[in-house]
Amino acid sequence: MKRLDRLTPEGTRDLFFEDFEQVKKIEDTLAALFSESGYRGISTPAIEFYDVFSAGVGAISQQDMYILADSKGRLMALRPDSTKPVARLVSTRLKNQSPPFRLYYCQSVYKRNKGENLLYDEVRQAGIELVGLGGLEGDIEALLLAARSLERTCGKGFLLEIGHMGFFTQIINSTDFPEEVKQDIKDKIEAKNYPALSTLLEKFPKSESVGALLRMPALYGGIEVLDEARRLIRGAADGVLGHIGKVYAALKEHGFEKNLAIDLGLLNGYGYYSGLVLKGYAFGASEAVLSGGRYDYLYGDYGLGYPAIGFAINTEQLLKQREQGARQQGEKRPLFIALTKGRLEKHAIELFKKAGVDCCPLDSKGRKLVIRVRAGEQELDVVFAKAADVITYVEHGACDMGIVGKDTIMEQGKSFYEMLDLGFGRCRLVLAAKKGRNFYGGYGVKTIATKFPKVAAQFFEGKKMNVDIIKIDGSVELTPLLELADGIVDITETGTTLRENGLEVVEEIADISAKLIVNTASLKTKREKLESFISLLKGAMNGRDI
Ligand code: PRP
Repeated sequence: MKRLDRLTPEGTRDLFFEDFEQVKKIEDTLAALFSESGYRGISTPAIEFYDVFSAGVGAISQQDMYILADSKGRLMALRPDSTKPVARLVSTRLKNQSPPFRLYYCQSVYKRNKGENLLYDEVRQAGIELVGLGGLEGDIEALLLAARSLERTCGKGFLLEIGHMGFFTQIINSTDFPEEVKQDIKDKIEAKNYPALSTLLEKFPKSESVGALLRMPALYGGIEVLDEARRLIRGAADGVLGHIGKVYAALKEHGFEKNLAIDLGLLNGYGYYSGLVLKGYAFGASEAVLSGGRYDYLYGDYGLGYPAIGFAINTEQLLKQREQGARQQGEKRPLFIALTKGRLEKHAIELFKKAGVDCCPLDSKGRKLVIRVRAGEQELDVVFAKAADVITYVEHGACDMGIVGKDTIMEQGKSFYEMLDLGFGRCRLVLAAKKGRNFYGGYGVKTIATKFPKVAAQFFEGKKMNVDIIKIDGSVELTPLLELADGIVDITETGTTLRENGLEVVEEIADISAKLIVNTASLKTKREKLESFISLLKGAMNGRDI
């Protein structure tokens, strides 16, 4: 067996010398701020009983956790977040004390990221939980502390973004959509996936709620967003919007106006959030470094009615993002866009030309890898990459935007905004098999060859069908001919390849076309530049709205 005695596990790293000292300095600065703000330090075990996370409000999926067994064979988990262990501590160790509790921690959380690029499985966090203080008072206190935390560690160069689960919840609860549709709408809003959201909502009769849901991904920016939201639903969410306005005003009074943004489409991941949600970014950075929100129902699981709000800052990420942000701002770096090489390239350049981008440098690029072009008032750096790499570059903020097919997004996309359907590169993702064969016939486990193993696995999981999947990198149509596979999951455009090789479509899985994807932090921290480029593209698409 190969010895792994000189490696650290995927998603972890040694931290030493300058890096260690700088991260430690950030943590010490935050701990000092929390402490002088009246918060008391706590630490919970890295190993908790699995049950702390597996059930109740905001249960965490088992595949996202590191799970092990203790000496009695009971299931344990490395804590995937600190909020639930803190709730366990408060409801047991502090049960005889009166709220509010002001608590802070500096400890790591552990998430199973399946070895994906640049994602950390061990994440150092410094955070607070304000337990037992609800409403406006609690929200203002927590948000001021979040703003001060970013100010102490990033100077003036940070953005604090505020959202509220209540805006979405009130609108969606006024509809009688089935539960799975509600969840789907939430996911699409969170991903600012305008095209998919409008396709989904087209199926329902027009109403004020449907109109507001359609517009929700675009409800981000300054305080003016609240007025637009008010107009959209005429009074229905005045309480929530007024609440955000008051929190905003309180932070403005403390001199943070330039650091504030609102996003009513911000619906933070964890299932326990019930009210205000927040995210924080260093200017010019590519990932959020602070995340949190109000969770007023979690303590109900412990028989306590405490309202609560908290946030956590990823301290290593903050160091990295702060340096990256400063570098980018110093260099006055233009926007970066990654274009998929091959099929989509020609169409993307055609669209750019229509949008008034000066594409001469692209036509004569030779072997250059980064090509600067002029797009309206600004410059743009263009890179060409394989489809999967376009996604990687955008997810990690190496590029602000990318143009890539929906097929690649379905296979490996995760965290970015999917903002425009560009309308070209149209094809279909299908299940195909030898002509005349009954693919679903017989009892044997079918073998499927594909370039899209995750999509294929999900498709057959949806059918509760066991299949063996083989990953193939090109000319997948060959595999049924060589009797390696019973069927293939692949894209087809004209259908020629299938036809000429005696294959036929068994079932359609999805319609595919090229999408504009945008890094989530870039959209917020480089908003004007990005929106001005996106509007050039929209103009070129005959004013089709996003
Ligand atoms: C795609 C796809 C099919 C072919 C279908 O392959 O995997 O093989 O196009 O197109 P058609 O329906 O118009 O015949 P691609 O050309 O991208 O090359 P690859 O298979 O080598 O990846």
